[in-house]
Amino acid sequence: EDEPLVLGIETSCDETGVGLVRGHTLLVDAVASSVEEHARFGGVVPEVASRAHLEAMVPTLERACREAGVRLGDVDAVAVTSGPGLAGALMVGVASAKALALALGVPLYGVNHLASHVAVDVVEHGPLPEPTLALLVSGGHSSLLLVPDVTADVRSLGSTIDDAAGEAFDKVARVLGLPFPGGPHIDRAAREGQVVIDFPRGLTGGRDLERHRFDFSFSGLKTAVSRWVAAREASGEPVPVADVAASFQEAVTDVLTRKALDACRRHGVGHLQVGGGVAANSRLRAMAQERCDAAGVELRVPRPGLCTDNGAMVAALGAQMVLRGREASALDLRADSSMPV
Ligand code: KG4
Ligand code: ZN
Repeated sequence: EDEPLVLGIETSCDETGVGLVRGHTLLVDAVASSVEEHARFGGVVPEVASRAHLEAMVPTLERACREAGVRLGDVDAVAVTSGPGLAGALMVGVASAKALALALGVPLYGVNHLASHVAVDVVEHGPLPEPTLALLVSGGHSSLLLVPDVTADVRSLGSTIDDAAGEAFDKVARVLGLPFPGGPHIDRAAREGQVVIDFPRGLTGGRDLERHRFDFSFSGLKTAVSRWVAAREASGEPVPVADVAASFQEAVTDVLTRKALDACRRHGVGHLQVGGGVAANSRLRAMAQERCDAAGVELRVPRPGLCTDNGAMVAALGAQMVLRGREASALDLRADSSMPV
């Protein structure tokens, strides 16, 4: 009970997340998602997300406290995602966190969204080995991070130069007539299919590889899938959805795991963490495990609910900051939609 009780608030995209962490222990992870409101638009609409955060904030805070059996007055610090993300969506979280910190008279910690995706693994698998290599793949980001200290030193080795990995899943799903968000549907369809089409692996050869060793590119892959499907439709033959899904998924996971393990090797890191919504992908998990085993690298993947955006990850990073004596943010903290790591 001596350990700090930290409240975390996440509103960078379409999930209103409120989490409570005591030290290294997760007490509650309450999430309200507006994903269904965005589904008919085929992607997240910023204005819709901001309004949904406003409506969901107080009920989600109340639910988190009720489920954890704590009173707001027990909270020792408030942490909030201050970037990167959608500007208007971030502002709702930052304003709420400031109000709470001020009202409760406790420190406020503005945290980086990507760093908190990494920090969440602490509540799942215990203290983070340092350094850790992190592969973050979601609808909004695809990054390889070298993490000597998740509270103070997170370095980007590379990121996508066009679409995020989850975005590629969502766009290819749309081409195949599957609903948004498409990742889980492709994952499911792929289980019934075979890897029979050799889709391109972006930035994995020649000059591209040298210039973009740890960067990703998925827009060429998406275009290749669209062309393949269009050609099949033009021929009058049925599109083998399961085979296309399996072949596309194989191309994405091959590139992600290949580059992640190359980064581990080149930086001499023995631990790989995979996070973000795409970390729920069953083929990605299996391939990462195989390749980590072969390379003697420990793989850490939080449970799917902690890989997607949530408040627990923000609380987890906030708790780490408190435990390590990091400086709190000023009460004029501002959201920074393009915050680097
Ligand atoms: O982390 P997240 O919930 O939100 C952000 O984008 O930050 O990630 C959502 C993304 C979507 O693009 C979704 O299609 C993808 O994660 N996703 C998956 C799977 N589950 C979710 N992609 C591939 N396979 C899955 N099983
Ligand atoms: Zn995220």
